[in-house]
Amino acid sequence: ASLRLAPGGTVDVTALRGPPEAAPESGPESGPASGKLRRFTLTAKPATITLASGRTVEALTFDGRSPGPPLRVRQGETVEVRLRSELADRGVTLHWHGYHVPNGEDGVPGLTQNAVRKGEEFVYRFRADQPGSYWYHTHETPNRALRAGLFGMFTVDPVDPVAPEGFDEPVALHTFGGSLTVALAGSPPADGLATRVLAPGTPVRLRVANTDNGPHTLGVSGVPYRIAAVDGLPVAGRALRDGRARLAAGGRYDLVFTMPPRPVLMSADGVGLLLTPGAGAAPAPSAGPLIDITRYGSGDVRAPQRFDRSYTWVLDRLVALRGGVPRLSHTVNGQVWPRVPPALVKEGEWVRFTVVNRSGEPHPMHPHGHHVLVLTRDGAPAAPVWMDSFDVGPGEVWEVALRADNPGVWLAHCHELTHAAEGMTLHVAYD
Ligand code: C2O
Ligand code: CU
Repeated sequence: ASLRLAPGGTVDVTALRGPPEAAPESGPESGPASGKLRRFTLTAKPATITLASGRTVEALTFDGRSPGPPLRVRQGETVEVRLRSELADRGVTLHWHGYHVPNGEDGVPGLTQNAVRKGEEFVYRFRADQPGSYWYHTHETPNRALRAGLFGMFTVDPVDPVAPEGFDEPVALHTFGGSLTVALAGSPPADGLATRVLAPGTPVRLRVANTDNGPHTLGVSGVPYRIAAVDGLPVAGRALRDGRARLAAGGRYDLVFTMPPRPVLMSADGVGLLLTPGAGAAPAPSAGPLIDITRYGSGDVRAPQRFDRSYTWVLDRLVALRGGVPRLSHTVNGQVWPRVPPALVKEGEWVRFTVVNRSGEPHPMHPHGHHVLVLTRDGAPAAPVWMDSFDVGPGEVWEVALRADNPGVWLAHCHELTHAAEGMTLHVAYD
């Protein structure tokens, strides 16, 4: 697929500014012994959204927008989010993907709360201790409702921002009505090319999130760049020139560079974000070599030498009983949820999971409430890197380590949400 650029690679840079950001419902206040309290309200409702091309899509939204209002807080603040619903046909929750909330705030209906129905509300409250790029989404029938738009970006800025004067923005890759889009805060999702004008020398951090069901391959052309964070957590890796990386469903990469005096293009599977100093031809989409994110970091993260427990998850596509009927299903260890035996852990333990993919499709595995340290991929030692969404390719074996430091009963599932709905879901339970 190719980008839809104007002939000659030029772009009209007028009319690029979107509507102003939604402000939090109230300003910072003093919270109990935990820094400022930041309050937000999100209301789930159906709405028609308009993509940048003018195409309209019937969506499920927060506050009439999809992606929903970006929530951005500073490390040390307390976040309070009041979820309301105007959805007639389904419940809604908020799951904080990649953020290690206390178990009761995790937004899993039937496990940590009841789904919020029309006219009801639920208040999430947690402290933002973990800087980085995250996202929020409903966890009630997510294969339909998240796909239809019930998600948004969640960013925790460090106490001391690295480049306060920079262009530092979450960017969502999401498919609406069959069209992949690039969504920046304050603008309609671009089913083609989104554009921003930036002065040369501006420090840039693009917090790209893959909110789709399958992987996207992305890269930056026109300037050397680094992947400075994976799934919200920093990595120290070399600069890439035209290199590309595959981003798992649910995953995030922070792409960092300094704006040069010529246009730069972040491209992903035929759509893109063009940053321009105001003139100049857009570079061609990155077509460089694909890097392996598990070997990208500098390797200065220390992996545990021994494990308190080990589990194996064999991912497969087998006939299993669902609703009493034998059907081809996505399985873990031959079973479908809720019959997959839980992985039991104790607080303080290091637990090793060997994840074996025996099916013909990738499975972007996502443990709630924790990142896992990737140790090996297909026998090759990883750099190692912390991830919360890791894409186990067909036939691959990944070894990952979980540090049990967030007690509760958590889901772990494939973020290809049709697979999760068919049964590729289990619990990680503290005993
Ligand atoms: Cu984004 Cu249960 O996950
Ligand atoms: Cu899967």
